[in-house]
Amino acid sequence: MASLRNTLSLVFCLLAATGPWLCSATSATDTFVYGGCSQQKFSPASPYESNLNSLLTSLVNSATYSSYNNFTIMGSSSSDTARGLFQCRGDLSMPDCATCVARAVSQVGPLCPYTCGGALQLAGCYIKYDNVSFLGQEDKTVVLKKCGPSEGYNTEGISRRDAVLTELLGGGGYFRAGGSSDVQGMGQCVGDLTVSECQDCLGTAIGRLKNDCGTAVFGDMFLTKCYARYSTDGGKYNAKSHNYKTNYGGERTFAIIIGLLAAVVLLIIFLLFLRGVCSRGGK
Ligand SMILES: *[C@@H]1O[C@H](CO)[C@@H](O)[C@H](O)[C@H]1NC(C)=O
Ligand SMILES: *[C@@H]1O[C@H](CO)[C@@H](O)[C@H](O)[C@H]1NC(C)=O
Repeated sequence: MASLRNTLSLVFCLLAATGPWLCSATSATDTFVYGGCSQQKFSPASPYESNLNSLLTSLVNSATYSSYNNFTIMGSSSSDTARGLFQCRGDLSMPDCATCVARAVSQVGPLCPYTCGGALQLAGCYIKYDNVSFLGQEDKTVVLKKCGPSEGYNTEGISRRDAVLTELLGGGGYFRAGGSSDVQGMGQCVGDLTVSECQDCLGTAIGRLKNDCGTAVFGDMFLTKCYARYSTDGGKYNAKSHNYKTNYGGERTFAIIIGLLAAVVLLIIFLLFLRGVCSRGGK
C-alpha cells in the first residue's frame, strides 16, 4: 500500500508540474505588463463613480464584438465626465479579447482605488480611463521600458533583430507582427490614433528599442498610445512576463503532449492498481 501511495503522489506531482504549462498556455494574454493611476481621486458614491462604472461596463460589453472602442459618459459637469477606451492585441480572437478586457477591468479597480484616471496593460489588451480628455491624442510618453540581458557582441544577431524591427516599421496597420528564424517582433497602436500618428508612434518605439536595448535578448517599449516588443531565442527562457509568443502555438502543443503523457502514466498506474486488487482477490 505504501508503494501505491508513493506512486500516486508521484502522479500528483506530475499533474502539478504540467498544470502551470496548461495554465500558462491559456492565460498568456492575461499577463500583467503595467498599470498606472492618476493622482486625483473621486469620492465614493459620487456621480463620477457611477459614470465610471457605466464606462467600464461598456468597455467589457464592447470587447465582445470589437477589438477597439472608446466611450464618453457625459456627466452634469465636465469633471464628472468619464472617458475611456480599450485596445486588444490585433491577433486575439473576439472571445479572447472580451476575456482580456474583463480581466483588465476587474484588476484596475483594486490597483487604482477611487482615482479619476487609470490605465492597465495586460499582454493581450489595454484599457485607460480618465475625466481628463485624452481620446484621439497622440502620446509618446515612455510608460514601460524593459531590456533583457545583453547577448554580448553578436553583430549577426543584432542585424537580424534590426531587420525584423525595420520590417515592423514598414508594415502597415495598427497591429504588426513579424520575425526571422530566431527573432520575433510585434507592434500595436491604440485605435484612437490616425494612421499617420500610429506610424509616428511606432517609429519612436522601434527607434528607442534599437537604441536603448542595444544587444539585449529581448526588449519591450511601451509608450502611452503604442508599443513595440521583440524577443530572440536567447531571451525565450528568460522573462516570465515576455511570453506573448505562447500564443503562436509552440508551447500550447508542448502542454498538450505533457498532458497526454500524464494521462498515459495515470492509466498505467490504474491498471497496475487493478492487477494488484485482482491478484489479492485471487489468493
Ligand atoms: C477630474 O476630477 C477631479 C476630482 O473631482 C477634479 O479635481 C478635476 O478638476 C477633474 N478634471 C477635469 C478635467 O474635469
Ligand atoms: C470614439 O467613438 C466614436 C463612436 O464609435 C467614433 O465616432 C470616434 O471616432 C471615436 N473617437 C476616437 C478618438 O477614436
